[in-house]
Amino acid sequence: MHNEYKKLLCWFLSMESIWKKECELPKQETLDHDITTDVAIIGAGMAGILTACLLKKKGIDSVILEANETASGQTCNTTAKITSQHALTYDTLIQDFGKEKAQMYAMANETAIGMYEELVKEFNISCHFEGMPSYVYTTEEVNKIEKEVKAALECGIKAEFTTDTKLPFPVKGAVKFHGQAQFNPLEFIKEIIKPLKIYEHTMAEGIEDQVIITKGGKVKAGSIVVATHYPFINSPGYYFARMHQERSYALAISNVPKLDGMYKDESQSGYSFRNYKDMIIIGGGTHRTGENLEGGKYEALRQAASTYYPESKEVCNWSAQDCHSVDHVPYIGLYSAKTPELYVATGFKKWGMTSSMVSAMILSDKISGLKNPYEEVFHPQRFEVTASMSGLLDEAKHTVRSLILKKLKVPDTSLAQVQPGHGAIIEEDGEKVGVYKELDGKIHMVSTKCTHLGCQLEWNPDELSWDCPCHGSRFDYTGVLINNPALESIEYEQFHK
Ligand SMILES: Cc1cc2nc3c(=O)[nH]c(=O)nc-3n(C[C@H](O)[C@H](O)[C@H](O)COP(=O)(O)OP(=O)(O)OC[C@H]3O[C@@H](n4cnc5c(N)ncnc54)[C@H](O)[C@@H]3O)c2cc1C
Ligand code: FES
Repeated sequence: MHNEYKKLLCWFLSMESIWKKECELPKQETLDHDITTDVAIIGAGMAGILTACLLKKKGIDSVILEANETASGQTCNTTAKITSQHALTYDTLIQDFGKEKAQMYAMANETAIGMYEELVKEFNISCHFEGMPSYVYTTEEVNKIEKEVKAALECGIKAEFTTDTKLPFPVKGAVKFHGQAQFNPLEFIKEIIKPLKIYEHTMAEGIEDQVIITKGGKVKAGSIVVATHYPFINSPGYYFARMHQERSYALAISNVPKLDGMYKDESQSGYSFRNYKDMIIIGGGTHRTGENLEGGKYEALRQAASTYYPESKEVCNWSAQDCHSVDHVPYIGLYSAKTPELYVATGFKKWGMTSSMVSAMILSDKISGLKNPYEEVFHPQRFEVTASMSGLLDEAKHTVRSLILKKLKVPDTSLAQVQPGHGAIIEEDGEKVGVYKELDGKIHMVSTKCTHLGCQLEWNPDELSWDCPCHGSRFDYTGVLINNPALESIEYEQFHK
């Protein structure tokens, strides 16, 4: 079979997370009339669902509005480690925010792990929840690991240095956190949504004076929580100036040995490992969304899988992306200083299981008029100069590059040069267009202007999508919106040549 055909077939057949493959969630109705509610939550991902769940425990009813289906965003594509070990975090947190706030961050996330355990017991949920230590390892320099062990201990986490792991290669050292956990997120969600009211296929198009506008009706709410992964309202809040998204790729492989923990390389170019039933989920290939011009992320993961586990068989593959704030701490709390009843939960930097629970703890307390002990460190209007400056400059640099410099560059590829199975930016009648050529000659042309704030989109050869390097919106090759913050699809034309 032609290599490009093989690649496409593989992509279409198996591009589904192990959670989606194994668990179907019930369908929910779509909003078709105006309603009034105490709390409206926009987004039925882990953050929105847990917030509704903790509000319910406090006796406060809410409705959740979901643009697509329950947990169909990043939550169904996570690797679902429930841990306060957010890569190497605590040494940096102490330097950037001071020991007291670093301790708050640690305790908030440790509490979140315990809350998952409580919910699993309370609802008697069978979701493959299991206690598991978490490790960040290095195959290079142990200095960073030793510093992290010391910092984690100072923050009150049960941590230790070790070289003893079940990984299929030697490590120079690892920081091990005790008392962490893993689960199947969709099996968990299937149970906890039972008492909640969710409207699916109900996209929030805007908010005016505590009224959410959707196509099917208006929702008037005392408090509103924006849990849409990337906040969809640009002003106030201005999250687009202080957050970007990063993608990663995952494979579930079978015919593998059992692991005794959840593992992550401290280096961005390394791999993460956890087991699920008799499989291992291997993750990696991280890049800023919109910056995967060469592709080959799945091939690299497959290569790693066959090197480390030569007998393994691929079960499925998938990818996801998450939001990264400029100071590497999530934004949880008031959407802006000017909006006293509008809240946000975002910026989980690929640690959204505990961060969603922390969001639910903080937001349910705030909405019910209680002070939460951890809210200060996640306060969205904070500005810590040391922690934020280089991130802010980096965001500005990317925006200038994609909004101005790349737009001035004349494409050096013509339509005839684009090979079947490939995509590229070309010039057509004096305008830049994005082209994807199918193997049978069908040609798909889209505008390369992102509908969010107008940055130039880039081709992602691994996922046949047009991705925005500024804030991470994504569109398929027919221009249909896949990921926010954009709210609209891009212009599209199809023809045969
Ligand atoms: C590859 C990868 C691996 C990861 N692994 C882990 C891990 O092991 N452990 C961990 O803790 N975290 C992990 N994460 C992070 C975690 O998966 C995410 O942070 C988390 O799922 C985000 O949840 P959410 O509710 O904020 O967003 P989502 O799950 O994306 O939910 C947001 C919802 O809002 C909806 N929405 C958007 N706009 C609108 C609108 N206008 N109106 C109505 N609805 C709207 C969307 O359709 C979506 O369903 C990983 C992330 C990635 C990328
Ligand atoms: S995502 Fe903001 S301009 Fe594209």
